[in-house]
Amino acid sequence: MILLASATAFSCGSALYEPVPADARGNTSYKNLLKGRDIFINKCGNCHNLYIPEKHTAGEWSLWLDRMKNRAKISDAERDMIYEYLILRAKSSDIKSDEKPEKN
Ligand code: HEC
Repeated sequence: MILLASATAFSCGSALYEPVPADARGNTSYKNLLKGRDIFINKCGNCHNLYIPEKHTAGEWSLWLDRMKNRAKISDAERDMIYEYLILRAKSSDIKSDEKPEKN
């Protein structure tokens, strides 16, 4: 259901990465990764096109999410789910994908 809705909502031509069960790690379940993708698609493409995960590093995503959180009217939990989804395919950087940048 979620996947179907996402596929319909995402109208841009490029493929937006879909998590697989093997992406689950630590306290991030496969289900939450799918949910993160879903929230991202539904809340983050209203004002501008969706930016693909590959566009930013994990650290940059963290900063952008903090900046966009109020605009997108999402909760902290939703912000974190989007973050966990985005960093699966974030641009590589000195920050490893399973290492969260310090949050304030
Ligand atoms: C209410 C409108 C609005 C919503 C909703 C919104 N944004 Fe934005 N976003 C903007 C504006 C305006 C900018 C231009 C830069 C600025 O003013 O901060 C921007 C810029 C960005 C950028 C930087 C542009 C770039 O070149 O990469 C990223 C990344 C981004 N948004 C991600 C998100 C994410 C992720 C969400 C969902 C959590 C989101 N945005 C939801 C309005 C919005």
